[in-house]
Amino acid sequence: MALLDIVKAGDPLLKQVASPIEKVDSKLRKLMENMAETMYKADGVGLAAPQIGQSIRLVVIDVGDDKGLVEMVNPVITHREGSELGQEGCLSVPNVFGDVERAEKVTVEYLNRWGKKKRLTAKGLMARCIQHELDHLEGTLFIDVAKTIKQGEKK
Ligand code: NI
Repeated sequence: MALLDIVKAGDPLLKQVASPIEKVDSKLRKLMENMAETMYKADGVGLAAPQIGQSIRLVVIDVGDDKGLVEMVNPVITHREGSELGQEGCLSVPNVFGDVERAEKVTVEYLNRWGKKKRLTAKGLMARCIQHELDHLEGTLFIDVAKTIKQGEKK
């Protein structure tokens, strides 16, 4: 496995709409593994492919719950419920935190690492993280949608 460089805010790649993935193959699985390693090393809970310089619809998430590492290819949110304000940060925007309003509960459909169709319903931090990572695929950063922004401090 290998650590990947994380693209930082200001790079136009983070503002692009990412392309759908057509083939889930061993090359993509290798990329997922490298993204997961990069995320863990950086102490993050999620990472989207544009953040490592690839404008494709792939995210990896591990919020430390019983779901463990979740890899999502071409994820789409099919249901949203409620709304909740909560603090977020991003590996592409170091030392900045902000309160973002997100749905409290979401259902997401995606392909897993074997190209199998999956559906996941999540609440709390996992739901927040899914929405944050999927925003990356649309070229949106949390600082674009946050209600308040704080520099250099984590609650
Ligand atoms: Ni992020």
